[in-house]
Amino acid sequence: MLRISRLTAIAAAMGASLIAFDAVAETYFEITDGELTRPTGFREWVFVGTPLTPNDMNNGKAPFPEFHAVYIDPESWDHWKETGEFRDGAIMIKELISVGSKQAASGNGYFMGEYIGLEATIKSSEHFPDEPGNWAYYSFSTPDHSSLKETAAAFPTAACNACHAAAAADDFVFTQYYPVLTAGKGAGDDAGGGTQSQLGNDG
Ligand code: HEC
Repeated sequence: MLRISRLTAIAAAMGASLIAFDAVAETYFEITDGELTRPTGFREWVFVGTPLTPNDMNNGKAPFPEFHAVYIDPESWDHWKETGEFRDGAIMIKELISVGSKQAASGNGYFMGEYIGLEATIKSSEHFPDEPGNWAYYSFSTPDHSSLKETAAAFPTAACNACHAAAAADDFVFTQYYPVLTAGKGAGDDAGGGTQSQLGNDG
């Protein structure tokens, strides 16, 4: 009798901790008094793509210079590959990197130089119930791109969200430029790469 009740107690405790684990999704950002603390550690998240808007193709000054290395937090990546959706609580980082050189041993082109800025977007119904899609947008870049701010306030909807709403392929995110996300959408274990012999080109 004693043994059974002890086992039952252990099972109940395990069940409770599993439920608690499920309910508390990990958050990769901190917002205090409306200011987002500069996220850290994101170069160890999941990398999704690198759009490039070089200054020399944008009248000398692209709005977001120049390489954009884009990352998603690991728990949102798990959710994306299982469900094909961005979870409530997702954060994506866009790190800006200069064009360092236009020539390499491999040929002429654009090669990454130095880190010059940091932007972020967060989907949260708790923090942004009134933003379209619950997405808000931040920048930690300074005007001369030489340092980063400690905290940042969200931009007004018209400044960032409106363009994302109009032109982004999937829930305000420009997945059309992130092959890791387009190939990994709802792909489960195949999202990690290397399991399929078919490449995603039509020709
Ligand atoms: C005129 C359209 C436009 C505006 C305005 C705009 N963006 Fe974007 N944004 C894009 C495009 C296009 C991409 C993907 C390609 C790229 O990075 O060049 C992007 C990508 C991003 C990403 C990577 C995640 C994602 O959603 O794809 C972040 C973060 C981001 N923008 C932040 C901002 C911030 C912060 C602002 C406001 C200061 C802003 N954006 C305003 C067009 C825009």
